[in-house]
Amino acid sequence: MRKPLIIANWKSNPASLKEAAVLARSAEKSAKRFRGVEAVVAPPFPFIPAVSKILRQAKLGAQDAFWSGGPYTGEVSRQQLKNFGVRYVILGHSSRRILGERDDAINKKVKAVLDGGLKAILCVGERKRSGGKGIPTSAILQFKKAVKGVKKSQLKNLVVAYEPVWAISTMPGARPDTPESAERAVKHLRQLLSHIYGQKSVGKTKMLYGGSVNAQNIKSFLVWPEIEGVLVGGASLNAVEFSKIIKNSL
Ligand code: PGA
Repeated sequence: MRKPLIIANWKSNPASLKEAAVLARSAEKSAKRFRGVEAVVAPPFPFIPAVSKILRQAKLGAQDAFWSGGPYTGEVSRQQLKNFGVRYVILGHSSRRILGERDDAINKKVKAVLDGGLKAILCVGERKRSGGKGIPTSAILQFKKAVKGVKKSQLKNLVVAYEPVWAISTMPGARPDTPESAERAVKHLRQLLSHIYGQKSVGKTKMLYGGSVNAQNIKSFLVWPEIEGVLVGGASLNAVEFSKIIKNSL
Protein backbone atom coordinates (compact mmCIF):
# COMPACT_ATOMS: atom_id res chain seq x y z
CA MET A 1 0.00 0.00 0.00
CA ARG A 2 1.30 3.49 -0.76
CA LYS A 3 2.32 5.77 2.05
CA PRO A 4 0.63 9.18 1.88
CA LEU A 5 3.04 12.09 2.22
CA ILE A 6 1.58 14.78 4.48
CA ILE A 7 3.55 18.00 4.74
CA ALA A 8 2.91 20.73 7.30
CA ASN A 9 4.02 24.10 6.00
CA TRP A 10 3.85 26.49 8.95
CA LYS A 11 4.94 29.49 6.83
CA SER A 12 5.94 32.33 9.17
CA ASN A 13 4.09 30.86 12.17
CA PRO A 14 3.88 30.53 15.12
CA ALA A 15 5.41 33.49 16.92
CA SER A 16 7.10 31.64 19.77
CA LEU A 17 9.26 28.59 20.20
CA LYS A 18 6.93 27.40 22.91
CA GLU A 19 4.00 27.22 20.49
CA ALA A 20 6.22 25.63 17.84
CA ALA A 21 7.23 22.91 20.28
CA VAL A 22 3.59 22.14 21.11
CA LEU A 23 2.75 21.74 17.42
CA ALA A 24 5.84 19.64 16.73
CA ARG A 25 5.19 17.31 19.68
CA SER A 26 1.65 16.75 18.55
CA ALA A 27 2.70 16.03 14.95
CA GLU A 28 5.34 13.61 16.22
CA LYS A 29 2.80 11.81 18.36
CA SER A 30 0.48 11.32 15.40
CA ALA A 31 3.31 10.25 13.13
CA LYS A 32 4.25 7.57 15.67
CA ARG A 33 0.69 6.42 15.97
CA PHE A 34 0.04 6.28 12.24
CA ARG A 35 3.23 4.91 10.80
CA GLY A 36 1.62 4.26 7.47
CA VAL A 37 1.87 8.01 6.84
CA GLU A 38 5.04 9.90 5.96
CA ALA A 39 4.63 13.13 7.95
CA VAL A 40 6.88 16.12 7.38
CA VAL A 41 6.95 19.30 9.45
CA ALA A 42 8.44 22.44 7.91
CA PRO A 43 8.88 25.14 10.56
CA PRO A 44 10.42 28.59 10.09
CA PHE A 45 14.25 28.56 10.21
CA PRO A 46 14.72 29.73 13.83
CA PHE A 47 12.71 26.78 15.17
CA ILE A 48 14.53 24.12 13.17
CA PRO A 49 17.13 23.20 15.83
CA ALA A 50 14.49 22.74 18.55
CA VAL A 51 11.98 20.98 16.31
CA SER A 52 14.69 18.63 15.06
CA LYS A 53 15.09 17.39 18.63
CA ILE A 54 11.38 16.69 18.94
CA LEU A 55 10.82 14.87 15.66
CA ARG A 56 11.83 11.24 15.28
CA GLN A 57 9.14 9.52 13.26
CA ALA A 58 8.00 12.69 11.52
CA LYS A 59 10.60 14.18 9.18
CA LEU A 60 11.99 17.66 9.33
CA GLY A 61 11.44 20.06 6.45
CA ALA A 62 12.46 23.63 5.62
CA GLN A 63 10.55 26.25 3.67
CA ASP A 64 13.39 27.35 1.42
CA ALA A 65 17.12 26.85 0.89
CA PHE A 66 19.67 28.96 -0.90
CA TRP A 67 21.79 27.30 -3.58
CA SER A 68 25.06 28.10 -1.86
CA GLY A 69 26.69 29.05 1.40
CA GLY A 70 28.99 32.06 1.51
CA PRO A 71 28.57 35.83 1.11
CA TYR A 72 24.75 35.87 0.90
CA THR A 73 23.19 38.01 3.60
CA GLY A 74 19.99 36.59 5.00
CA GLU A 75 20.15 33.30 3.11
CA VAL A 76 20.30 29.79 4.56
CA SER A 77 22.17 27.08 2.67
CA ARG A 78 21.13 23.50 2.07
CA GLN A 79 24.21 22.29 3.93
CA GLN A 80 23.29 24.27 7.05
CA LEU A 81 19.82 22.77 6.93
CA LYS A 82 21.14 19.29 6.32
CA ASN A 83 23.40 19.58 9.36
CA PHE A 84 20.29 20.12 11.48
CA GLY A 85 18.58 17.03 10.13
CA VAL A 86 16.41 18.65 7.47
CA ARG A 87 15.34 16.06 4.89
CA TYR A 88 12.79 17.95 2.79
CA VAL A 89 12.89 21.49 1.40
CA ILE A 90 9.83 23.30 0.06
CA LEU A 91 10.80 25.36 -3.00
CA GLY A 92 8.95 27.77 -5.22
CA HIS A 93 6.03 28.19 -2.87
CA SER A 94 3.52 30.69 -4.23
CA SER A 95 3.92 32.95 -1.20
CA ARG A 96 7.58 33.35 -2.21
CA ARG A 97 6.79 33.69 -5.90
CA ILE A 98 4.31 36.47 -5.08
CA LEU A 99 7.09 38.29 -3.24
CA GLY A 100 9.23 38.13 -6.35
CA GLU A 101 11.07 34.81 -6.39
CA ARG A 102 11.75 33.95 -10.00
CA ASP A 103 11.82 30.73 -11.96
CA ASP A 104 15.59 30.81 -12.52
CA ALA A 105 16.26 31.12 -8.78
CA ILE A 106 13.81 28.31 -8.05
CA ASN A 107 15.53 26.11 -10.62
CA LYS A 108 18.94 26.74 -9.04
CA LYS A 109 17.56 25.91 -5.62
CA VAL A 110 15.85 22.72 -6.83
CA LYS A 111 19.13 21.51 -8.34
CA ALA A 112 21.18 22.49 -5.29
CA VAL A 113 18.82 20.75 -2.90
CA LEU A 114 18.76 17.58 -5.01
CA ASP A 115 22.55 17.63 -5.52
CA GLY A 116 22.86 17.86 -1.75
CA GLY A 117 20.90 14.63 -1.36
CA LEU A 118 17.82 16.30 0.14
CA LYS A 119 14.26 15.97 -1.08
CA ALA A 120 12.90 18.97 -2.98
CA ILE A 121 9.20 19.75 -2.73
CA LEU A 122 8.59 21.86 -5.79
CA CYS A 123 5.40 23.94 -5.70
CA VAL A 124 3.69 25.08 -8.88
CA GLY A 125 0.29 26.57 -9.49
CA GLU A 126 -1.59 29.23 -11.38
CA ARG A 127 -2.72 32.44 -9.70
CA LYS A 128 -6.19 32.70 -11.15
CA ARG A 129 -8.77 30.04 -11.56
CA SER A 130 -8.98 29.31 -15.27
CA GLY A 131 -12.29 27.52 -15.53
CA GLY A 132 -10.83 25.33 -18.27
CA LYS A 133 -10.39 21.59 -18.05
CA GLY A 134 -6.62 21.35 -18.25
CA ILE A 135 -3.84 22.67 -16.07
CA PRO A 136 -3.13 26.31 -16.99
CA THR A 137 -0.03 27.18 -19.00
CA SER A 138 1.45 29.30 -16.23
CA ALA A 139 1.72 26.29 -13.94
CA ILE A 140 3.19 24.19 -16.75
CA LEU A 141 5.81 26.83 -17.46
CA GLN A 142 6.75 27.11 -13.79
CA PHE A 143 7.15 23.36 -13.72
CA LYS A 144 9.25 23.06 -16.87
CA LYS A 145 11.58 25.85 -15.80
CA ALA A 146 12.01 24.46 -12.30
CA VAL A 147 13.01 20.94 -13.37
CA LYS A 148 15.42 21.99 -16.10
CA GLY A 149 18.72 20.17 -15.59
CA VAL A 150 17.39 17.83 -12.91
CA LYS A 151 18.92 14.40 -13.50
CA LYS A 152 16.85 11.30 -14.04
CA SER A 153 18.56 9.68 -11.06
CA GLN A 154 17.29 12.54 -8.86
CA LEU A 155 13.61 12.06 -9.65
CA LYS A 156 13.15 9.84 -6.62
CA ASN A 157 14.01 12.83 -4.44
CA LEU A 158 11.71 15.20 -6.25
CA VAL A 159 8.23 15.85 -4.90
CA VAL A 160 5.86 18.02 -6.92
CA ALA A 161 3.03 19.88 -5.23
CA TYR A 162 0.28 21.29 -7.41
CA GLU A 163 -1.00 24.29 -5.50
CA PRO A 164 -3.39 26.56 -7.35
CA VAL A 165 -2.87 29.91 -5.67
CA TRP A 166 -6.60 30.72 -5.63
CA ALA A 167 -7.16 27.62 -3.49
CA ILE A 168 -4.72 28.59 -0.75
CA SER A 169 -6.70 29.27 2.39
CA THR A 170 -5.28 32.72 3.08
CA MET A 171 -6.20 34.09 -0.37
CA PRO A 172 -9.40 36.12 -0.54
CA GLY A 173 -12.34 33.96 -1.57
CA ALA A 174 -10.25 30.80 -1.46
CA ARG A 175 -11.80 27.39 -1.78
CA PRO A 176 -10.17 24.03 -2.42
CA ASP A 177 -9.81 22.76 -5.94
CA THR A 178 -12.16 19.90 -6.71
CA PRO A 179 -10.43 16.55 -6.30
CA GLU A 180 -11.22 15.71 -9.95
CA SER A 181 -9.53 18.82 -11.22
CA ALA A 182 -6.53 18.42 -8.86
CA GLU A 183 -6.13 14.84 -10.07
CA ARG A 184 -6.19 16.00 -13.69
CA ALA A 185 -3.59 18.67 -13.04
CA VAL A 186 -1.28 16.31 -11.18
CA LYS A 187 -1.66 13.72 -13.90
CA HIS A 188 -0.76 16.29 -16.51
CA LEU A 189 2.39 17.24 -14.57
CA ARG A 190 3.41 13.59 -14.40
CA GLN A 191 2.87 13.27 -18.15
CA LEU A 192 5.18 16.23 -18.69
CA LEU A 193 7.82 14.50 -16.58
CA SER A 194 7.33 11.37 -18.59
CA HIS A 195 7.91 13.31 -21.83
CA ILE A 196 11.17 14.62 -20.45
CA TYR A 197 12.50 11.56 -18.67
CA GLY A 198 10.66 8.59 -20.11
CA GLN A 199 7.76 6.62 -18.82
CA LYS A 200 9.79 4.35 -16.57
CA SER A 201 11.34 7.06 -14.41
CA VAL A 202 8.30 9.07 -13.48
CA GLY A 203 6.72 6.73 -10.96
CA LYS A 204 9.48 7.69 -8.55
CA THR A 205 8.40 11.31 -8.19
CA LYS A 206 5.67 11.86 -5.61
CA MET A 207 2.86 14.16 -6.61
CA LEU A 208 0.86 16.18 -4.11
CA TYR A 209 -2.03 18.58 -3.99
CA GLY A 210 -2.13 21.67 -1.77
CA GLY A 211 -4.72 24.37 -1.11
CA SER A 212 -7.27 24.49 1.74
CA VAL A 213 -6.75 20.86 2.71
CA ASN A 214 -8.24 19.96 6.07
CA ALA A 215 -9.22 16.89 8.08
CA GLN A 216 -12.59 16.80 6.43
CA ASN A 217 -11.61 16.96 2.79
CA ILE A 218 -8.25 15.17 2.79
CA LYS A 219 -9.62 11.77 1.93
CA SER A 220 -11.50 13.10 -1.08
CA PHE A 221 -8.11 14.04 -2.57
CA LEU A 222 -6.16 10.97 -1.53
CA VAL A 223 -8.63 8.52 -3.02
CA TRP A 224 -7.43 9.56 -6.47
CA PRO A 225 -4.59 7.50 -7.92
CA GLU A 226 -2.24 10.34 -8.87
CA ILE A 227 -2.52 12.37 -5.66
CA GLU A 228 -0.05 10.77 -3.28
CA GLY A 229 -0.11 13.30 -0.52
CA VAL A 230 -0.90 16.87 0.45
CA LEU A 231 0.79 20.08 1.47
CA VAL A 232 -1.08 21.67 4.36
CA GLY A 233 -0.72 25.30 5.41
CA GLY A 234 -3.32 26.85 7.71
CA ALA A 235 -4.73 23.60 9.05
CA SER A 236 -1.26 22.45 10.14
CA LEU A 237 -1.16 25.27 12.70
CA ASN A 238 -3.90 23.65 14.72
CA ALA A 239 -2.45 20.63 16.53
CA VAL A 240 -5.77 18.79 16.82
CA GLU A 241 -6.71 19.43 13.19
CA PHE A 242 -3.32 18.32 11.91
CA SER A 243 -3.49 15.11 13.95
CA LYS A 244 -6.86 14.39 12.37
CA ILE A 245 -5.41 15.07 8.93
CA ILE A 246 -2.73 12.45 9.55
CA LYS A 247 -5.29 10.00 10.88
CA ASN A 248 -7.76 10.58 8.05
CA SER A 249 -5.12 10.18 5.36
CA LEU A 250 -5.11 6.41 5.94
P1 PGA B 1 -3.42 26.21 2.96
O1 PGA B 1 -1.96 26.48 2.37
O2 PGA B 1 -3.45 24.78 3.39
O3 PGA B 1 -3.51 27.15 4.13
O4 PGA B 1 -4.36 26.51 1.88
C1 PGA B 1 -1.35 25.56 1.54
C2 PGA B 1 -0.02 26.08 1.09
O5 PGA B 1 0.09 27.28 0.86
O6 PGA B 1 0.94 25.32 1.00
